[in-house]
Formats: sequence, structure tokens, C-alpha cells
Amino acid sequence: MAAKRDNFGSHFAAIMAMAGSAIGLGNIWRFPYVVGQNGGAAFIVVYLFSAVFLCIPIFLSEALIGKRTQLSTFGAMEALAPGRKWKWLGFLTVFTPLIILSYYSVVGGWSLEYLLKALSFSFTSADVTQEGLSADFSGFISSTWAPLFFHTVFMLINAFVLMAGVKGGIEKFTKITTPLLFVLVVVIMAYSMSLPGAGAGISYLLKPDFTKLTPYSVLSAMGQAFFSLSLGVGCILTYGSYLKKDSDLLTTGLSTSLFDLCFALIAGFAIMPAVFAAGIEPGAGPGLIFETLPFIFSKMGAGMPVVSGIIAIIFFITIVFAALTSSISMLETGVAYLVDQKHLARGKAIAILFTGCWALGVLCCLSFGPMADVKILGLTVFDLCDKMTANFLMTFGSLLFTLFVGWRMKKSDVYDEFTNGGSLRTSVKVFGFVYFLIKFVAPVVIGVIFITTLVM
Ligand code: PHE
Repeated sequence: MAAKRDNFGSHFAAIMAMAGSAIGLGNIWRFPYVVGQNGGAAFIVVYLFSAVFLCIPIFLSEALIGKRTQLSTFGAMEALAPGRKWKWLGFLTVFTPLIILSYYSVVGGWSLEYLLKALSFSFTSADVTQEGLSADFSGFISSTWAPLFFHTVFMLINAFVLMAGVKGGIEKFTKITTPLLFVLVVVIMAYSMSLPGAGAGISYLLKPDFTKLTPYSVLSAMGQAFFSLSLGVGCILTYGSYLKKDSDLLTTGLSTSLFDLCFALIAGFAIMPAVFAAGIEPGAGPGLIFETLPFIFSKMGAGMPVVSGIIAIIFFITIVFAALTSSISMLETGVAYLVDQKHLARGKAIAILFTGCWALGVLCCLSFGPMADVKILGLTVFDLCDKMTANFLMTFGSLLFTLFVGWRMKKSDVYDEFTNGGSLRTSVKVFGFVYFLIKFVAPVVIGVIFITTLVM
């Protein structure tokens, strides 16, 4: 059985780590562009429904397994369900985050490049135009060496942080940067909504047109909700294992989910009005924020270029850190497996996983340039890694976690862990409802959407 690993020290730190894992590029980069690709408000309605009725039960299921066993994914499965059957859920949770990391790191690299641009105040000069920004971005991602370089740097930072341990460095930093990012997104939202022509973007986000929804876009909305909360891949389970035995799962789950959800919505309202104001196509894809944020900064710059230049710098620094707190949780899940189960030294485990993720990341990176024509199932390598994980593997992992807690674990054990032996009053009151969501609602809804998409 796996040994208990390094701990976060306090309950607050564990919640910060979960929020740090949840809040990342998913909220600020991925959410606005998948909303744009899937028709706007109707997509958001499905996203909200998934966040409340599916994400919270899945989050609670994963964290509950971790807290109950105080072990990482494989050890936890082995402790609660000895035998072979559930082990491959353990494998899924090791591989999925690594695939995500490989393309996540490419976007992390783009953020680093944009941070450098912000540092040279290149968004605030008077001659910035939207066409110029879009052309710059496409030129950058389709080139060969620069994106590869930044992808490599981003991966290396991850490796260094994990070598040093999570406790001292990044956790302390994110306690400051995550709230700061929040404040900055609100400022940018207010500014973006005041731009001429922003109204069309606001109604795009608020007026649902359900005829635009296809089974695939429903799956994408659900997948985005899971992606944003880091569900179905064992990260929340692993971090849950760092929770103290007397901590309150319900409060932890609700606060993390709410924080994450608000963040995504605010980011949507910060980006989409500016997209419309700038005349960019909302379905433009993964480049959306890199084309619109600089546009916002350049507009803000009129009259006060230094202030907007500094906001741009702080903004991209916090984006890079938000990305890092998520990406280290992906790598850590795999490292924990190799250290706990395969008894590898931490450095060796990191080196192996680094190499694999970096190599796959290279293919993702090149899929915007020299490998743009290499398509698998009609998708570039980058899109394939993204869609395969967010829409399928994470959804599948989430389904299995709820089935595990709802049908494999004893109800009395679930009750005991959820309510801390009946001592948490609110948790006792809502247990029946939460258990119903875990046992029936989540698996049935996920299963039906999953199968419908596969069949149609
Ligand atoms: N939740 C993270 C984000 O929104 C992404 C993530 C996915 C992190 C899976 C860990 C595991 O950016």
C-alpha cells in the first residue's frame, strides 16, 4: 500500500491547492473560446446545469475517496476495492492528466511569450491594430522554434517546482496571485463591457438560442465544466488525500466549485464583449484571448499607457501562475503514482514524465505550423489531445468515480466520511440529496450524454 506523502500543512492550504488546480487556463483561455465555438448563452446554460448537478457530486466523490484513504489514486482504489477491477480507473487517472499537460503546456508557453510582450509594453503603443494583433498571433503559433522554446520553458518550470515541493513556493504565491487575478478580471470585465459595440457580446452570453445546441455541444459544455474543476482525473482525489480527517467536504467542495464557476463567468464577460467590439469571430478558437486581451489593453492605453501597460504585465504574470498551479497538479498525479506504487525516486519520476509530456507537447505545438495538415479523426494533434481528454476521458473518469462511491462503497462509509461520523449538522441534513445525485443523477446524465454523442 502506498505511503502517505508530503502534506499541505493546513486545511486552508489544501483548499488553496484545489482552487489553484481548478482555476487556470480552463477558466480564462478555454471557457471563452468553447462558448464562442458552441453558440454562446445556450451552452452556458448547460454548463451551469453541469456545474451544479454534476460537478459538485463528482468533486465530492473524488475528494471523499482521497480523504477516506489518505492515499493517491492507485493506493486508494486498492484500499477500498481490493482486486483488479477498479485498478484501471487508477491508470486512467495517471494518463489523462499527462495528455492534458502536453497541450496545456503549449498554451502556457504562449502565455509566457505574451508576458514578455507585455513587459516590453508592446500592447500600449498607439499603432496597435486588431488586424496586426491577430496576424502577430497566427504568425507566432505557426512558427516552429519560438512556441517550442516557450513550451519547453513552461514544462521545465513545472519540473523545478515539483522537485522543490509544492508547499513552500507556489502555494504561498498563489494565495496572493489568485485573488489578484480575480480583481484584474473584474476590472477588465468592466472595461470590456463599456467598449463601443460590446452590447452584442453581452447578449451573445445572455440570450440562449437552444436550437444551436447539438448533442456534441452538450457534451462539450459538460466536458468544459469537468475540465474547469479538474474532475475525473484523480487530481481532486490526490489533493483530497491531503485534507485533514476532520475537514468539512461539503464546504470545501462548494467553495471551490463556486469560486471556479464565478471565475469562468467573469472571464466570459471580460472577453466576449471585447471580441464583438473588436469584430473578431467568436468561434475563432484557441487564440481568442491572445487576440482580444491585447486589444483591450491597447484601447485602455489611450491616455494612460503606463497604467494599462502595468495592468497587462500583472495580468499575464497571474495567468502564467494560474496555469502553473493547475499544471503542477497534473504532473503531481503521475509523479505520486510512480513514487508510491513503483517506488521510483521523485527526481526520476519527474524526469520520465517530463520527457513523455514534453515530446507529445512538441507534436501539439507543431500542429499549428509545420504539422497543421496532419489530422487524426479530422483533428490536429492539439485538438485531438484537447477533445479526447476534456470531452471523453475526463467524462469517463468522472462517471467511474461517481459509480465507485455510489455503487461500490458502502453507504454507511460514505455517510461517515461525508458527515465526519454524523458530527457536521448541515452535511447530515443534505446527505440524502447529495447521495442521490452521486448514485443516480450524475451517472445517468453523464452516461446518456456520453452514449448519445457516440451514437450520433
Ligand atoms: N482545471 C484546470 C483549469 O481550469 C485544468 C486541469 C484539468 C487541471 C485537469 C488539472 C486536471 O485550467
